[in-house]
Amino acid sequence: MNQNSREHWGSRIGFIMAAAGSAVGLGNIWRFPYVAGDNGGGAFMIIYLVCVFFIVSNIMVAELAVGRRSQLGAVGAYKSISKKWTFAGALGVLSGFLIMGFYPVVGGWALAHVFKSFTGLLNNPAMIGANFDIFIESPVQPLIWMTLFLFANVWIVAKGVKGGIETAGKFLMPLLFVLLLIIAGRSLTLSGAGEGIRFLFQPDWSEVNAGTVLAALGQAFFSLSLGMGCMITYGSYLDKKENLPNNAILVLLMDTGVAILAGLALFPAIFAFGMTPSGGPGLVFVVAPTIFAEMGFLGIILSTLFFGALMIAALTSSVSLLEVVVTYLIDEKALSRKKAVGLAATVMVVLCIFSSLSLGMMQNFSILGVGMFDFFDILTDKIFLAIGGLLLAIFTGWTLKKEDLRDELTNGGQVSFKLFDVWYLMTKFVVPVVIGLVAIAGIMSIEETGVMILGLLIIFVFALFSKKL
Ligand code: TRP
Repeated sequence: MNQNSREHWGSRIGFIMAAAGSAVGLGNIWRFPYVAGDNGGGAFMIIYLVCVFFIVSNIMVAELAVGRRSQLGAVGAYKSISKKWTFAGALGVLSGFLIMGFYPVVGGWALAHVFKSFTGLLNNPAMIGANFDIFIESPVQPLIWMTLFLFANVWIVAKGVKGGIETAGKFLMPLLFVLLLIIAGRSLTLSGAGEGIRFLFQPDWSEVNAGTVLAALGQAFFSLSLGMGCMITYGSYLDKKENLPNNAILVLLMDTGVAILAGLALFPAIFAFGMTPSGGPGLVFVVAPTIFAEMGFLGIILSTLFFGALMIAALTSSVSLLEVVVTYLIDEKALSRKKAVGLAATVMVVLCIFSSLSLGMMQNFSILGVGMFDFFDILTDKIFLAIGGLLLAIFTGWTLKKEDLRDELTNGGQVSFKLFDVWYLMTKFVVPVVIGLVAIAGIMSIEETGVMILGLLIIFVFALFSKKL
């Protein structure tokens, strides 16, 4: 496909908001706080920041460059250079399906809590945790909310890049930011808030092992939407005039800012209320309403707004996941956009039904020792994204020409990218080695060995059969 017939973002701010919209999502507000809480707080935070700024930032720049250069999505970008590499893109599309096999379930929880906020969620603060468990374990309700959430995705993505995704991101992202600021402000002024800040920023290295580092690396990939061709896809819709490194930094800073803000909104309150920071996936859904329950009518309004913002953040992210799959079906399988969206979403609904039920009715059914919900999460977050990033770094550093990359990242010499050589050396040598080491050490130290082995097997099979994709 040439540059003229391919759809493009309407404006710079539109792209930034869409890319930041993709990055900022449940990963920042739902996942980051509970993973940080599970992994000891401050030390995790520092490792996470090192991963983001020294390792994963290079992948962000590389994905955008590869996408814009090829003007193709995850699979096409690899395939257009060498058929041998098709599997790396295909792995990304598979990751898209798998993440969309649980992400909309949580998106549905957020949507449900918008309505629950003014229908009694806050009435009995002591019961918020128990009620949350009852809700996510029930067989029907979460499925309805999940389907509604997925439907919103379908609606936006079917409208196309400019009209749908870009418009949604431009309006909804700033709103989210303001809401989080308000909540963090309230949380930080609770008495006893200091303990939470200490937990978040004061490292306790005794808890850290290879598994913590893998968790931080996986979280960095997840939060920045990297390692599965999402930014390749968004980059492919980007204008040749845009300054890629600058845009990458901006998205990186916004994403990290929101994660820290979410931490500041939750942890002070967790300690002020005497809850435990390792509350698991329910953390944000229990802590936030508990803060609001103390605030009377204002609390109801803030709770509604907060879960609205969470839902919006989830939506602008999940559309980017869906878009990766849709772009693949359009570019490589010549489907119309509408058909591609319909097909992809149908598969995703089915996966989501299983992962939602795995928290309740199907609790006893497990794959290799974990339920479906955790299975999709672990498979993508702990294996596929990091390996996807590793493959992309090797692809960029070792198969693309250095001068082509320089040309792409400086817009043919029109903008300066002073750190080009540093980025190139990092991407070619340092990033693959570091990810490789973390992945090996992490995979060996992790409990879910079965899932790990299956994941590596899937990558192997993909590599063997990639010519068909
Ligand atoms: N980054 C999003 C979040 O933090 C989730 C997401 C969107 C994602 N696109 C992705 C994760 C691509 C991995 C890969 O919620």
